[in-house]
Amino acid sequence: MIKIAIVGTGSIAEWHASAFKNHKDSEVIAACDVNDDRLNEFCNKFQIENRYNSVDELLENNEIDAVTNTTPDAYHKEISIKAIKKNKHIFCEKPLAENFKDAKLMCEALEGKNLINMVNFSYRNSSGYQELCKMVKSGKIGNVFHMDANYYQSWLTSNYWGNWKEEDKWLWRLSTKHGSKGTLGDIGVHIFDFASFPIGKLKKLNAHLKTFKSKGDKIKDYVLDANDTFISMVEFENGAIGTVNATRFATGYKNRLELRIFGDKGAVKIEFDDAKTEGNKFMFTKDTQRQLSGKEDNLKWEEIQCEPSQTNFEKFIEAIKNNKNDEPDFYRGAEIQNILDKCYESSENGKWVNI
Ligand SMILES: NC(=O)c1ccc[n+]([C@@H]2O[C@H](COP(=O)([O-])OP(=O)(O)OC[C@H]3O[C@@H](n4cnc5c(N)ncnc54)[C@H](O)[C@@H]3O)[C@@H](O)[C@H]2O)c1
Repeated sequence: MIKIAIVGTGSIAEWHASAFKNHKDSEVIAACDVNDDRLNEFCNKFQIENRYNSVDELLENNEIDAVTNTTPDAYHKEISIKAIKKNKHIFCEKPLAENFKDAKLMCEALEGKNLINMVNFSYRNSSGYQELCKMVKSGKIGNVFHMDANYYQSWLTSNYWGNWKEEDKWLWRLSTKHGSKGTLGDIGVHIFDFASFPIGKLKKLNAHLKTFKSKGDKIKDYVLDANDTFISMVEFENGAIGTVNATRFATGYKNRLELRIFGDKGAVKIEFDDAKTEGNKFMFTKDTQRQLSGKEDNLKWEEIQCEPSQTNFEKFIEAIKNNKNDEPDFYRGAEIQNILDKCYESSENGKWVNI
């Protein structure tokens, strides 16, 4: 049994605890949070015996094989590096760090260590997405020329998620002083991974981030200065171009991811609000212009249903068992962090930036 410790027992930690508790080869044996009430509530719910208020104390527990880091972004670097130094396999929530420099330090800490490392780009869990990536990488749609990817949330225009004007859990996300990197840092990190994994490395980008002052300057202690929305143009090393966008003003959408990729032999697309219930399929169409008859209709899309595939949690446990790292790893997390840093740079200077 692989023995897991959870550091940071907030909302996303519940998902980690369920996944690792329900896996036949892992168990959750310890947890840590600086908030005692939250720690106890969480440990009681998931029947976790060993409880700590400090990660240093937790890491003295030699029974622990792996740490899952579910603390807020600002603590990802410090806690992950501490765990790595104590030779624990490490699963870290996204974004890997707050910037590329810190993400690189996390990768450097892994050098010379034989440790499994993973960053939770959770939309990789969609089996439809996994199969779409395989199809694009296999060359079935040919050379990729064009793509577009969007991540649409609506919590600034709907009450579906709660009331952002009153609830701290939303307000901090609008304030840089409270550690938010805005829409780009929160969901841009997902959509850049989602958009680029099937196609390849980005060569350059031009991004525009916007904070809408009309929603107000300040609520309680929160200065509302983090970006609410962004658009970007990208070019890949293989020559493909496209757009990657995200917003919290997408009225009518709960949590929508969309990706379309067009090649010279075909195209694929996927879209879902809920990766679990809707992410098990994608659409494919092929270029029929070169077919002899020339009559085949190439405007029809075929729905491809996909078998359930491994989640990041399952991949992490499998990787530990096989002593062979899997994707998305810390190096991928750092690569995406670099893209985000370049978006801020591009938006500030109003220019294309090389990656
Ligand atoms: N992969 C995804 O789709 C996804 C979804 C939501 C959140 N996240 C990420 O998960 C992380 C946590 O988000 P959340 O919504 O669960 O936050 P949260 O505020 O609900 O929980 C964070 C917990 O960490 C604790 N904490 C803070 N500093 C600590 C420290 N030094 N040591 C131990 N515990 C500490 C807090 O007391 C809190 O209980 C964030 O980085 C967020 O970006 C990822």
